[in-house]
Parts: sequence; C-alpha cells; structure tokens
Amino acid sequence: MTFERPNIEKMQGYTPGEQPDDGDSIKLNTNENPYPASPEVAAALRGIEVDSLRRYPPPLADQFRQAAARLHQVSEHNIIPTNGGDELLRLVLTTFVDSGKTIAITKPSYSLYRVLADIAGCKLAEIDLQADWSMPENFLAQLQQVQARITILVNPQAPTGTLISVAYLDELAGNYGGVLVVDEAYVDFIDPELGYDSIPLIGRHENLLILRSLSKGYGLAGLRFGYGIACKSLIAPMLTKTRDSYNTDTISQRLAAAALDSVDYARQGWARIRSERGTLLQALAQLGLPCLPSQSNFLLCEVPQAVGAEHLYQSLKQRGILVRYFDEDRLRDRLRISIGSEADNAALVTALKAILAK
Ligand SMILES: Cc1ncc(COP(=O)(O)O)c(C=O)c1O
Repeated sequence: MTFERPNIEKMQGYTPGEQPDDGDSIKLNTNENPYPASPEVAAALRGIEVDSLRRYPPPLADQFRQAAARLHQVSEHNIIPTNGGDELLRLVLTTFVDSGKTIAITKPSYSLYRVLADIAGCKLAEIDLQADWSMPENFLAQLQQVQARITILVNPQAPTGTLISVAYLDELAGNYGGVLVVDEAYVDFIDPELGYDSIPLIGRHENLLILRSLSKGYGLAGLRFGYGIACKSLIAPMLTKTRDSYNTDTISQRLAAAALDSVDYARQGWARIRSERGTLLQALAQLGLPCLPSQSNFLLCEVPQAVGAEHLYQSLKQRGILVRYFDEDRLRDRLRISIGSEADNAALVTALKAILAK
C-alpha cells in the first residue's frame, strides 16, 4: 500500500555525490570550494547570539537582498533569496508550470532537473548537446516544437564546464516564449578576461531568471543559500506567493550577507582555483586523460577504454580520493573532477600515476 501520488511513486529521487563524514577523504566529487569563507563570514557566525533565534527571521531576508542588489547593481526587487539554488529551481516549477506541461533542458546536465520535473508531474524534453558539447543546433525551434514552458540551461555548463555566450542567451531569451532559467551555480570561476556578465539581460527580458549559489564560489555549501535575479514581475510571485513563509533562516541570512559584502576575499579563491584548473588540466593530459577546457571549478576528463572510467573511479576511491562517475549516456567514459586545494590536486595526480602505471 502506498499513499504517494502516482508520479511520486514512479519517480527516482536525486542521488547526491558521496558525502563521507570521516574527514580523511580527499573530496573532489561535489564541486565544493577547497578554501573557507571569508573572515567576515566567520565573524558574523561568532556574532550570532542564541537568544536572537527565539524570533523568526526577517521573512524576505532584507539585509541579504540589499547586499545582493549592491553587488549586482540592481534593485532589491530583482532578488529572491532561497534555501540553496535548489530551492529556487523548485520554486520556478511551482510558480510557472502546470503539471502535464513540458520543461526543456540540454543533455547532459544537472540531474536534479529531472527529479524536479517528476515531482511537478511535468514532461521533460532533454535536447542533446552537439558532439563537441556546444548548444544544440536549432535549439529555439526544438523548444517551440516541444512547447517548453520553462527551459533551464546551466552556464557554465555542467558537467562539461563549457560556456554559453551572453549574446546567445540574449537572443534566445528575446525569441523564446517561456521562462528561461540560466543556472549560474559555477559563474564565479569564469575567466574574467572573457567579460561574461548576464545580469544586464534581466533589464531587457521579462522571461529571464538567473540562478546564483553561495555553495561553490563562497565556500558555503553547508549553509544552503542561493538566490535568483530577474525582473520584478518574475521575482514577485515567487517572493510573495509560492515561497515558504520563512524559507531562509536567521543564521544563513546573516552569513550570506557577510559573504557577499566581502566578495573580494572570495575572488582571491576564485583566482587560485582558476590557476589550479589550468595546472591540473595539463597534468591530466600528460597522464593520457584529456579534459575539455573548463570555465568551472571542475574538469570533465576522458578515460581511455583500456583503463575504464568506472574502474579508475573505484581505484581512486580505494585510495581515499572521491571523484564523480556518471553512469549515463556520453559520460560513461569520463570522470568529473572538482578542482581541490593545491595539496589535494597533487595527491590526485600522484594516485593517478600509481594506478595508471599498473
Ligand atoms: C548546476 C547546479 N545548479 C544548482 C546547484 C545547486 O546548488 P545549491 O543548492 O547548493 O545552491 C548545483 C549544485 O551542485 C549545481 O551543480
């Protein structure tokens, strides 16, 4: 006997990357930041009196919204704070699509999108990236054909790390009739020389929603804080109707605001991660594990058939190093490796040399 709704009974839940609590593993499997959040965040945490938790938090996280508005030079009406970027995705579906209708994504991409579509009872149109992992040809026409009400793109893409240009997003948003979500969970790791900045697009497109997360760039995956940036008319229904009454808590609001206010500290970490990304990419290529160029904090590397990606994943795990293996189309011959600290990356390369020498 089950009390589940039929679509819930049928669906599979999200499988998160392994999160061992031993403290000994080298974790290069869930794209966490190897560096801690800023001293200002630590001070904000120390400054929280337990007595202040008797009260409910500010429902709209005003202090955080103001910090985000300052950082992005938009109005606070353009910001919705959420319990991780994941909650924003859930809110988008709750607010903008009826069950039975279609959501479109590219394939491969973040596996939570399918789970959320299943929960909402929506159809999921997965449109294959091209052979070189660039955006599908005639993407807009394909969205129109499947009548997608919401389209979600990850940029930089996951798990490839490739970047879609602002010009492409601008044109797509301008011609698409549904809500276009650009999931920028990894945006902080883009080379600054590329000048990527999608935020001005929200002033031009009423259907564009940008997702940001503090999990990766700010070293705060454990805090659970993300936010959306969009024009007021897209933000307002989520903020005033579909959001849980107190969706972010007092502690996370204060720490998240401190993190954005001290963004310069986080930026130093982003630069280190980009530099390590280049070093690791070269080291992996020399070991016969070529990677796609990445604008993210991970590399997707190809593993020769004679070695086998799953075997390599298991061999690293035996040595206490976790990376991500995806048992799905186009990814079975690859591993996704998060950029760790200098020491973690060096340990990875040493372990790979030992395994591949066998
Ligand atoms: C592509 C993508 N989007 C969104 C998220 C959600 O991030 P969070 O809920 O930790 O803010 C993740 C986390 O792994 C991700 O990989």
